[in-house]
Amino acid sequence: MADAQWWRTAAIYQIYIRSFADSDGDGIGDIAGIRSRLGYLAQLGVDAIWITPWYASPNNDGGYDVRDYRAIDPAYGDLREAELLIGEAHQHGLRVILDIVPNHTSTDHPWFQAALAAPPGSPERARYHFVDGRGASGELPPNDWRSTFGGSAWQRVTEADGEPGQWYLHLFDPTQADLNWSHPEVHREFLDILRFWFDRGVDGFRIDVATGLVKHPGYPDLGYREEDLLVLTNVPDHPHRDRDGVHAIYRDWRRLAGEYDPPRIFVAEAWVADSERLARYVAPGQLHTTFNFPFLQSAWDAGELSSVIESTLHAMSRVGAPPTWVLSNHDVERTVTRYGRANTRKQPGRSGHELGPVDVELGRRRARAAILLMLALPGVAYLYQGEELGLPDHMDIPVDRIQDPIWTRSGGRRRGRDGCRVPLPWTLDPKGAGFGSADPWLPQPDGWETHSVQSQLDDPTSTYHLVARALRIRRSLGAPQELEWVVRPDSVLRFRRGSAFECIVNLGATEVPVPAGAVPLLRSDTIDVTPDPLGPDTAVWLRPRG
Ligand code: GLC
Repeated sequence: MADAQWWRTAAIYQIYIRSFADSDGDGIGDIAGIRSRLGYLAQLGVDAIWITPWYASPNNDGGYDVRDYRAIDPAYGDLREAELLIGEAHQHGLRVILDIVPNHTSTDHPWFQAALAAPPGSPERARYHFVDGRGASGELPPNDWRSTFGGSAWQRVTEADGEPGQWYLHLFDPTQADLNWSHPEVHREFLDILRFWFDRGVDGFRIDVATGLVKHPGYPDLGYREEDLLVLTNVPDHPHRDRDGVHAIYRDWRRLAGEYDPPRIFVAEAWVADSERLARYVAPGQLHTTFNFPFLQSAWDAGELSSVIESTLHAMSRVGAPPTWVLSNHDVERTVTRYGRANTRKQPGRSGHELGPVDVELGRRRARAAILLMLALPGVAYLYQGEELGLPDHMDIPVDRIQDPIWTRSGGRRRGRDGCRVPLPWTLDPKGAGFGSADPWLPQPDGWETHSVQSQLDDPTSTYHLVARALRIRRSLGAPQELEWVVRPDSVLRFRRGSAFECIVNLGATEVPVPAGAVPLLRSDTIDVTPDPLGPDTAVWLRPRG
């Protein structure tokens, strides 16, 4: 665990705590569940875990609505257990990354409750964005900003006299009030929260909505088109996304992380217009790494993927930051589902049946090849829980069981993100698939147990074994080498990492030959690595000849 540069090449496993493993039979994943599976994660071969928010929360948005940043939600455990988990993870050789949510607090947070109780213009209100409405009696929202989850981004409050009063900003759910980062107390508080967890041995943080913290002080209209709701980062001088002011915040955070030994690290959740804007988050003196979402948004298409890879490598190397790669997370459809469609490009804010039929077998074939592609690239790779099992989304969650606030905020037009958040299958038990003894908080699809860890451990051809083998080889390759394209014919990606390693991905419809004399190391379609031609949607890792 001594390597201070571990974060430049790590394979990081995202744990969506609510759906990982339930130890106490309440249908909800918990810290003890994670603790009981650390051996599994170490065996899989990842270097670190990122745990989605586990803080005290009314859970209106999967815990991204925090009431107390220094307390564990009782559904997940308590602080003592969190400390035990951190220590045990380290003993297993796993670093621990937590999720910090600085853009907004829950409206149950004491600061927001104090703001509600205080009058307009008070210091309590200054920590959030409380603004007078437009119209003769302030009855219209202050501007046209929309919530990512649908509807206006403003909510009107009732003042102490019982009259309708000011409006507060919520770029997500109305129960998630945006903080005012031009207030020094907000700065101080978050530095203190980071210290609280760093002092407990946490190795780093994923920064939620990292681009959103700073707002235009004049709250100008954005001039919306509803269909652009989730792709609006490329507006010049955007009033609430990717504003220059966020970088001063992250310079302070980086300084704090550097005070620790080993230094703590950050990864930004940054949906921005292009890789040049992205590079600003990881320029010298700023954050260590940032998610690189264009890779996750790309279609299963050689041209599109190779140009994302190129532009990412170029932008990151200019600022000396490692590239990162991610194909799925708790906010997007799983690759098995997305790649199984006619249109394999990520569709902003949409999921499930609304996007058309899915060929799961085709999707899984592509997803397996894509994992080999991702793990062959230089830099950091993120795996989302269940990706190592080749899980698809649950497409048929009954509407009365949907939890994502997107469902209600969109008036039932968008099903939201529950499909990729279904509790994991661990065993062949047809009831709950070993997630826990109770009915899980989100229903699992029929036959979920057939994807379970238990069934995959017994099957040498399983996605689990493919990923575990890939992680082992990746680790054995050691220090990162520059990526060098061998040839770039249409529909094939082929590159080397130094002289030891080559990756070929066939994204086309016809077979491509495997170069004679090379030693095949791993194939996405079969455990038999004899150098037969590569069929469509297949990847191979090789040790090149000579
Ligand atoms: C991030 C999280 C997402 C959450 C949102 C609001 O995008 O990944 O799950 O809903 O922020 O906090």
